[in-house]
Amino acid sequence: MESVKSADTLERPVKLAIKDIVVGYLDKQSGHTMVAVDKVTLDIREGEFVTIVGLSGCGKSTFLNAIAGLVKHQHGEIRVNDRIVTGPGMDRAVVFQKASLLPWRKVGRNITYGLELSGMKQAAAREKASYYVNLIRLNGFEDHYPHQLSGGMQQRVNLARALACDPEVLLLDEPFAALDAITRELMQNELLQLCEKVGKTVLMVTHQIDEAVLLSDRVVIFSSRPAYVLADIRIPIPRPRKSHIKDSEEFRRLMNEIWRVIEGNANIGGGI
Ligand SMILES: Nc1ncnc2c1ncn2[C@@H]1O[C@H](COP(=O)(O)OP(=O)(O)O)[C@@H](O)[C@H]1O
Ligand SMILES: [Mg+2]
Repeated sequence: MESVKSADTLERPVKLAIKDIVVGYLDKQSGHTMVAVDKVTLDIREGEFVTIVGLSGCGKSTFLNAIAGLVKHQHGEIRVNDRIVTGPGMDRAVVFQKASLLPWRKVGRNITYGLELSGMKQAAAREKASYYVNLIRLNGFEDHYPHQLSGGMQQRVNLARALACDPEVLLLDEPFAALDAITRELMQNELLQLCEKVGKTVLMVTHQIDEAVLLSDRVVIFSSRPAYVLADIRIPIPRPRKSHIKDSEEFRRLMNEIWRVIEGNANIGGGI
């Protein structure tokens, strides 16, 4: 299948609009609110792959969870296709670090789960799921239980499940962080090819800079907590991409550029 990505994603309509959002957690003992995300504004265009990088504990997951509607923001606005986000919804699918599969359902029925919840008939759900089973090369594993699969395969099922719901926006929170280094590299390639095929709008969180550069159209760098946007860096490497671009001069230059921003902020804020 041809890549659906055009050379410049900046020409596309905005799919996910985040304006000035503030998210804090109330400490019930002290009565104080600890601000985790501080006035973040970000527009993500249709079909764009945007990654957020930042130090551990800076507020990346909080930000993603606010977009997913799992955590309430105290200020600002989140819109998907101009609809204001007030809670979780089928227009956003989230994949977390740990594959959250239902252990009593076989792979095929894990993938159809969200579709069944949305009221789709089992036969139609199965048909839809089989497209993603093929796409993510899980053929032959539909009748396995999650515990019979490796961590990498479980995370592939998780991705297929999220994609099968055909969300407007796919949210990924360090989806490969729990995997070993080799599986992680393989999964990065898998996701790269997958996204180039389906052309989804994706917002991913990672602390791996190489992963961010390989996959993204833009890398957004968060400050140490409370998170605000330090830099928004375009990754002009053409698509389709292959993992060997990691050896290129341009790739290294972009990695260095991102690293210098993170390091500079950590030195000022004592964030490490
Ligand atoms: N449910 C919660 N209740 C209270 N504090 C939280 C909660 N979740 C995260 N935090 C705090 O918010 C800050 C940001 O956390 P998080 O968003 O998980 O960071 P990251 O994903 O960048 O590692 C951290 O100080 C963390 O301890
Ligand atoms: Mg996190």
